[in-house]
Amino acid sequence: MQKILFVCLGNICRSPLAEGILLHLKEKHDLQLEIDSAGTSNYHIGEAPDRRTIANAKKNGVDLSFLRARQFHENDFDAFDKILVMDKSNFTNVISLAKNEDHKNKVSLFLNTAYPNTNMEVPDPYHGTEKDFEDVFQLVYKASEIFIKQF
Ligand code: 4NP
Repeated sequence: MQKILFVCLGNICRSPLAEGILLHLKEKHDLQLEIDSAGTSNYHIGEAPDRRTIANAKKNGVDLSFLRARQFHENDFDAFDKILVMDKSNFTNVISLAKNEDHKNKVSLFLNTAYPNTNMEVPDPYHGTEKDFEDVFQLVYKASEIFIKQF
């Protein structure tokens, strides 16, 4: 069983969205996956996802309300097979905590799994509009559908 961890900064917008979408697709396609998410910051530990992220995902048929934010920990390098980060800044943050090459090799930009070598980022909608939350949902959903084809 593959264990996948999604990582962003706050763990209240992008990575819980990816976690919820993957859980939704896991159920739909009966996939053998373990999925979690975390933030590189300690800003929102214990909080539910951002209410705008929850509302937009709900509108699109994905429940995120039960998720709670936690901070990325170096133990996560051993606990997970893949660590998928939402942007380059969080890629740098996570890599800086890696103790060895094996840990570093587990880390990649999430969108590179669907669109190899493009180095695209999932934009942070936190300071954005309702449309930004919808655009991020569609981007993460489409990439997730491509990503799960490998399982
Ligand atoms: P996320 O978005 O990294 O996608 O969860 C953010 C959430 C909160 C903050 C920044 C980004 N913040 O600065 O509180």
